[in-house]
Amino acid sequence: MIGDFGQPPKQERYDVRAALCKEYGTPPKLTVDDLQAPVLGNGEVRIEVHACGINFADVLIVQGKYQAKPRLPFVPGGEVAGVVSEVGSDVSNVETGQRVLGMSSQGGFAEEVVIDCRRVLAIPDSMDFKTGASFAVTYGTSHLALEHRACLKSSETLLVLGASGGVGLTAVEIGKAMGATVIGAASTDEKLGIVKSRGADFLINYVKEDLRDRVKEITGGVDVVYDPVGGEPFLQALRCMNWEGRIIVIGFAGGTIQKIPANYLLLKNCAAVGAYWGPYMEKNPDVLLCSLGTLMDWFEAGKIVPHISATYPLEDAGKALATLYERRATGKVVLTTRD
Ligand SMILES: NC(=O)c1ccc[n+]([C@@H]2O[C@H](COP(=O)([O-])OP(=O)(O)OC[C@H]3O[C@@H](n4cnc5c(N)ncnc54)[C@H](OP(=O)(O)O)[C@@H]3O)[C@@H](O)[C@H]2O)c1
Repeated sequence: MIGDFGQPPKQERYDVRAALCKEYGTPPKLTVDDLQAPVLGNGEVRIEVHACGINFADVLIVQGKYQAKPRLPFVPGGEVAGVVSEVGSDVSNVETGQRVLGMSSQGGFAEEVVIDCRRVLAIPDSMDFKTGASFAVTYGTSHLALEHRACLKSSETLLVLGASGGVGLTAVEIGKAMGATVIGAASTDEKLGIVKSRGADFLINYVKEDLRDRVKEITGGVDVVYDPVGGEPFLQALRCMNWEGRIIVIGFAGGTIQKIPANYLLLKNCAAVGAYWGPYMEKNPDVLLCSLGTLMDWFEAGKIVPHISATYPLEDAGKALATLYERRATGKVVLTTRD
């Protein structure tokens, strides 16, 4: 076959089930179709997907509200766990048959996905697929934010907003694992019950109670704020900061991107710090991989216990996304693609 010399071998094509976004909208319109299995390239890994974690980014992407707007139609889903079914050339970190988690920007709401091998990690036997698909983004974001960006110390007090949500609950657990005193704030008493179960020392219902008054009452002030909600809760939290405090901007789940009054930063020598996890994969993978290594060790030692509140089959991908944008989700929501 002189003509094919140097070309990758032709791949056999077959169909896989996938949830497809054909138009942006709220509620998201997803349809499950049979699509041709993705083509595997050099340096890539094919994963037989067993579970796909839902993140707020997926909710924004299918509404056309995320910073990256994929061309329609596309398969959403950025965080999967499953079994490696094929590896491309130049892949040495994982092998066929291995149980892994994979981090991509899309393609996960499907029976199969192809991901760059640098974004695929082996998972321990003690980690089931649903947990594997719920782990990297949330724990990775919170650990990197608290340790690398805000340098949280064990002597300090941490306030977590949206503390029962995907990233929020992991920040509570990681704050406790780092030895800090943790105040968890959420919108309902039921959600606060989950925050308490993950070790928070103090709880605030920021719908019923005044956040600033309650923080003053509990600890007088906080050293670090972890904020995935944005808007008014951020501004309230900013007013609770101790001298040399750090307020971490994680996201804007509440829908409002706040403007920061810089005088508050100046008066108490505080810092507002952004923590955006995804780009670390390109900009500083060592920090990200070292952080994930620590988190895997903590998982195996039982120091962190992922909370999965709901599981949906692939056909109900739209319902799974709705639990997040309707503010009903706690911890993680996961799609399963196989029985
Ligand atoms: N920086 C990063 O690298 C990174 C990584 C992952 C996620 N994020 C961002 O972090 C935020 C949370 O993500 P997530 O996956 O943890 O989402 P999630 O599980 O849905 O949690 C969001 C939390 O925000 C609170 N919230 C307040 N107003 C809300 C509203 N109008 N709609 C929905 N939730 C509302 C909810 O708690 P209460 O009801 O208790 O207020 C909820 O628990 C998102 O903005 C996401 O984009 C950032």
